Amino acid sequence: MPLASALGRVSGYTFTDVILRLICTDNAIPHVCENRQTPESAHLPCKPACQLVHSHHLFTQLARLNYSPVRNLLFKLPAERSHDLALSIIGKAPASMLRCMTGSSVKDTSVSVMGIDFPNAVGLAAGLDKNADYYHGLAHFGFGFIEVGTVTPRPQPGNDKPRMFRLQQDDAVINRMGFNNKGVDFLAKRVSQTRYNGILGINIGKNKDTPMDRAHEDYQHCMQQVYTLADYITVNISSPNTPGLRDLQVGDATKKLLTEVKSTQQTLTDKHGRYVPVAVKVAPDMAPADLDDFCDTARALRIDAIIATNTTLARPDLKSTHASESGGLSGKPVLAKSRVTISQLAQRLHNEIPIIGCGGIFSGDDALAHLEAGASLVQVYTGFIYRGPELVSEIRQSITATHSKQQ
Ligand SMILES: Cc1cc2nc3c(=O)[nH]c(=O)nc-3n(C[C@H](O)[C@H](O)[C@H](O)COP(=O)(O)O)c2cc1C
Repeated sequence: MPLASALGRVSGYTFTDVILRLICTDNAIPHVCENRQTPESAHLPCKPACQLVHSHHLFTQLARLNYSPVRNLLFKLPAERSHDLALSIIGKAPASMLRCMTGSSVKDTSVSVMGIDFPNAVGLAAGLDKNADYYHGLAHFGFGFIEVGTVTPRPQPGNDKPRMFRLQQDDAVINRMGFNNKGVDFLAKRVSQTRYNGILGINIGKNKDTPMDRAHEDYQHCMQQVYTLADYITVNISSPNTPGLRDLQVGDATKKLLTEVKSTQQTLTDKHGRYVPVAVKVAPDMAPADLDDFCDTARALRIDAIIATNTTLARPDLKSTHASESGGLSGKPVLAKSRVTISQLAQRLHNEIPIIGCGGIFSGDDALAHLEAGASLVQVYTGFIYRGPELVSEIRQSITATHSKQQ
């Protein structure tokens, strides 16, 4: 059975089912099971004791592939299902296989931002690992930092499915996930039990059913629960899929929220004897006057970093069939908007607050352009889905090459 149709057919099954089906039925993958070496036993199904050997063998086979055939298989499934399957494989695959997929090793340029030393400037953006279930595996792809979340105080299911759409002709995704997550207590437990030595950002939001005038309580609660576990915390006020959330980016609502957030940060710093920086994530759709206002507030309150940007509600010329789905658009069509937002922020922040550039990065050159526009670090999401781990290495290489030229 070809790998693609096996994946398609088994998509509703557990990870182990997937692996076993592929191994037991695909003759393209040689069997290594000793129980199947003799003519009498060759027809027998795999025994549970052999599963591990088979799984490892499959991983080795996959690791020899580059990302593009793996992507072609995954893209045969609906977007959210392939996303879940890929994460489940990453969560269980041996580290050696994951590292294999990142390509050649890179001599990185480390960078200090928000008082944190980042081993390299390329991060994984929030939303891919919402509950901190997989970041120990994702870390093997060479990211300089990983942001998990968005997490809310209480678990919530998010919007009805389908809610994630690939726009392949546009190198884009539209999502209206709606902060589906298992709640901050679950995430905090996962992080405290996970072995990971890298830089971890934890992205927090509000529950859909929390009234807007009490939104600050959700952010404060999440801060309290993750403060000692995070290298930095991101206050997400820019997702388009939680009604009213983006209003927190504007005027008095921003002042009120960020004043409460900074006061909680101070209380927690005193309590734990450690300052954890707070970044705020903004949309690429803000009117220039609102962005001005936002920058004034951020400077006055000494916010530690701004992440620019989240997804856009705009719909530039798109070719794909899913173009009219509602939700936030990410990937190549958001690149220019994100870059403009980064430039505008850089002009208004006068180097007082560092910027983390995110949106539409599909190549080393895209990342360099975000850095030239004023960002100190970059994050990827959609580009990583389309191009895989080689995107991370390419960006790291481009940054190192540029740095060497400047020396
Ligand atoms: C499916 C999906 C889910 C996302 N979920 C979140 C989220 O929970 N929190 C958040 O701050 N950003 C979320 N984002 C936005 C990304 O972190 C990123 O800011 C945006 O997609 C732009 O970057 P990109 O073009 O590299 O994807 C999500 C994006 C996608 C595609």
